[in-house]
Amino acid sequence: MNPTFEVWPGPMEGVSRPEFVYAVNQLKLVRRWMTPFLRVSDTCFKEKKIKEFLAPYLASSLEVTAQIMGTNPRILAELAARCLACGAAGINLNCGCPSKRVVSGGAGGGALKDPDKLCRIVKEIRAAAGEKIRFSVKMRSGYKAPEEMLSLIPRLADAGTDAFFIHYRTVTEQYLPVSGRTERLRQAVRAAAGLPVVVNGDIASVEEGKCLVEETQASGVMIARAFMRDPFLLERFEDPDAPCGETGRQLFFKTLESHRVSGGNRLELAKMIFGAQSTEFRRMLTSEFISK
Ligand SMILES: Cc1cc2nc3c(=O)[nH]c(=O)nc-3n(C[C@H](O)[C@H](O)[C@H](O)COP(=O)(O)O)c2cc1C
Repeated sequence: MNPTFEVWPGPMEGVSRPEFVYAVNQLKLVRRWMTPFLRVSDTCFKEKKIKEFLAPYLASSLEVTAQIMGTNPRILAELAARCLACGAAGINLNCGCPSKRVVSGGAGGGALKDPDKLCRIVKEIRAAAGEKIRFSVKMRSGYKAPEEMLSLIPRLADAGTDAFFIHYRTVTEQYLPVSGRTERLRQAVRAAAGLPVVVNGDIASVEEGKCLVEETQASGVMIARAFMRDPFLLERFEDPDAPCGETGRQLFFKTLESHRVSGGNRLELAKMIFGAQSTEFRRMLTSEFISK
């Protein structure tokens, strides 16, 4: 296994609020960032809005990949160029979001249903971003069937994608339990024919992540939900002595609170970090806590 493989925090729209990002930065829990999606339809965001969106990530001085999502090739290309002008080091196109509202409009995971159009989008973004920028696609293994990625990945590579983030489930599989993760991801790496593939989906420990990289020959791992439940998990890939479990959760939550997270957000984040059944979360449900 390549000892320098990349460990990425999975983007989490709604969770990665500024105070969350600042707390992660303060504790140095990640080595790179990918933002949650900036979704565009028929008009592009102004630079001011993009700068505001990127500010917490850029404050880390780490490399920031801006994730974009939409269906209009010209607007997406414009957004990519603006994100780069505002300080992003790379661009990622979201082709994985399984939300019905997003997919029904052809964005996120819905983009996998129309490979011709998706290739046009990739070409426009590549042209706008320039040759030197790392432009990646984050996708499910297919819309309905994982075999879809076998033709999609090479086509997207030809169109100008230079790295892939693959969540092994298909869009229609949502977050359901699905077997065959390793085999699907191994096939994704093979289909990418030498381009970097970062594997994603249900990775919950350093051992599991390293084993998956070894078995698939991927170039790294991306971890989202387990990062919330175990905030030092990504750091333990580099430093085995970093805090784990409850110690890490308590330390992270204390740091979050120091960034003045508001009542409702605090409760929501506590639920994700400690779990809905935890004594911490139940204690926080008291009105005393909420009214703080
Ligand atoms: C609350 C939440 C928000 C998410 N938002 C995004 C997003 O903005 N962009 C994206 O590409 N994926 C998003 N995802 C998907 C994750 O990045 C990741 O691909 C998925 O959860 C599988 O990885 P995991 O099993 O490690 O959580 C989100 C997931 C969750 C749970």
